[in-house]
Amino acid sequence: MSTPTPAPGAVGAPRPRIEGPLKVTGTARYAADVPVPDLAHGWLVTASVSRGRIRDIDATTALALPGVLGVLDHRNAPRLNPAAGNYFGPDGSLQLLQDDVVPYAGRPVALVVAETSEQARAAAAALRLSYHVEPHDLDFRLEHPAARPGSTAFGPEADTGDLDAELAASTVVVEERYRTPEESHTALEPHAATVWWHEGDLYAVDSNQGAFSVSEVLAALWSMDRERVHVRSEHVGGGFGGKGACGPQVILGSMASARYGRPVRIVLTRAQVFEATASRPPTDQLVRIGADADGRLRAIHHRPAYALSPLAEYIEWCTEQAKILYAAPAIRTQLTAVPLDILPPASMRGPGATPGSFALESAVDEVAERLGLDPLELRLRNQPTVGPVSGLPFSSRRLVSCLREGARRFGWAARDRRPRSRREGPLLVGTGLATTSFSAGVFPSTASITAEADGTFTVAVGASDIGTGARTALTAVAADALGVGPEQVRIRIGDSDLGMAWGAGGSRGTTSWSFAIVEAAGKLREKLDGPDRPVTATADTTALIDYRPQRERQTFSAVFAEVTVDPATGEVRVRRLLGMFAVGRVINPLLARGQLVGGMIMGLSMALHEESVRDPRTGRQANADLAGYHIASHADVPEIEADFVPDYEPQDPSGFNGLGEIGTAGTAAAIANAVWHATGTRQRTLPIRLDRVL
Ligand code: MOS
Repeated sequence: MSTPTPAPGAVGAPRPRIEGPLKVTGTARYAADVPVPDLAHGWLVTASVSRGRIRDIDATTALALPGVLGVLDHRNAPRLNPAAGNYFGPDGSLQLLQDDVVPYAGRPVALVVAETSEQARAAAAALRLSYHVEPHDLDFRLEHPAARPGSTAFGPEADTGDLDAELAASTVVVEERYRTPEESHTALEPHAATVWWHEGDLYAVDSNQGAFSVSEVLAALWSMDRERVHVRSEHVGGGFGGKGACGPQVILGSMASARYGRPVRIVLTRAQVFEATASRPPTDQLVRIGADADGRLRAIHHRPAYALSPLAEYIEWCTEQAKILYAAPAIRTQLTAVPLDILPPASMRGPGATPGSFALESAVDEVAERLGLDPLELRLRNQPTVGPVSGLPFSSRRLVSCLREGARRFGWAARDRRPRSRREGPLLVGTGLATTSFSAGVFPSTASITAEADGTFTVAVGASDIGTGARTALTAVAADALGVGPEQVRIRIGDSDLGMAWGAGGSRGTTSWSFAIVEAAGKLREKLDGPDRPVTATADTTALIDYRPQRERQTFSAVFAEVTVDPATGEVRVRRLLGMFAVGRVINPLLARGQLVGGMIMGLSMALHEESVRDPRTGRQANADLAGYHIASHADVPEIEADFVPDYEPQDPSGFNGLGEIGTAGTAAAIANAVWHATGTRQRTLPIRLDRVL
């Protein structure tokens, strides 16, 4: 066989998901579907109080029920390594059943193990738990006495220019507070794992966003070699950041399997997904923006607070857009963390940027209102030529193209900018827009590619497909890199044994895995001159990634929304959404559009519906189910479109950037700005509930 003839073209083609037939025929096995002999079932028991200590867990009745193998709690559970942690250091949220402390309502405090799931559930209901209850603190606000500066591990705060002087010299100063609630990822597939030990090795089929990183955390918790931990996650029913960490299902499964010498399966209930996995923290954000009469911004001050748990460091990085979107002589950001007795938060789709750009882009709209300027025109007048804080050039910044093309398609020019200027029968009609940016880049990954004797290629990469179509996108990337058609490429993903890889998160999965695949393909093509098959080439991008900041690498969006508001009921309906995106070279426009349309619906959901409501007395979530926690569906927006402006990321070997999160990030402000246009009233607190409109 000779060197493959380049046959580019798989990248850019709209191919449907290659695993689609497996999913719609029920052939795809998820973490709770994998057949395993001699399986036992675990049922989580979670704390019903927000702070305190466990006084007693009386298992007498539970242990006497049929099929019950045992109850694990802090008194008899295997000991875990307390140093195990995450990016920021040791993470107390991983230390399940290690002591009697209850740090938040919903904390797993016991696991009942039985022959069947029903028996485990019945026994869990028969456990009698009592607590020494201590007062809890859920009093989230920017001025909380325990508020402290947020971690700067993602980048330093901005403090350029003379903020006070620029504000004093401004014709208009908008100074407002914006609030977003605690929200929950609520992936369709609940967290689930099937776990067993064999000859000292740990095996898990787990629902997560990165099998390799879960294997690393499990290895740390059990103080064992990572190579002896084997995590698979072939099919995952959504994640949105809520499955980025090593979840309670797999930690407790590994403990129960070790204790009872059987494979153990744990599937969280919907309520447990809400209360025991992770949430997007609430935010309380002060924004001050000063502008000249001609609409030139002079000062931007963004001071957001977010809640976190004392168990683990976390960053809800709301301040990045204030450093990227607009040119202004003075820019200051001050991220503030407020430790409370809450579920430890985690990244949720568009972390930081989603609540952060809601505040910033609402405030910019308020500046336009105060100046009597078209909000599109205000944005166009303040576009920076270099990073407003970093001074670095942008590697690609097609935001103006997004704004102009979006405005053209949306019909923005015909808009009367006065609020309450459009009515249709009893309804008020309004339109609004917002922009955002989202950081892009790559993280180290490995990949290997084998040229098989039959002329096909097997690509192995520790990637994760959480429903986004990563498998299909990476097949196209590999095909082009090998110079063959995608039908000649088979791909293996979702397995920690495939080697080190970044997870599906931070909008960096596809770029990181593609980089490794392209490297491996290059090496393989050099080896293909010889006659031997199969032949394998591997690549590790760790040493190839240059982290020195030389250019601002960001994706951009402009989102346009049209809403109707019923002044009698306060009901807001989103009638149209249009998002224009600059996300580098698009690998698969069909899947990319689906990702962005889904993201925009999630942004709509945030704007109008999503809110984890906690009972202030108990601290427990009062709406920990999908009846009380409302999420939007496709039917909630009859006309939705996402499209791309031509773009190419020069810092990426293939021109790619991630697009997993930017769809969600920019949408809420566009809707809130449209609601203002319809009603004349600003909505600075999400969600925009009926009672807030009336
Ligand atoms: Mo994303 S919030 O990094 O899954």
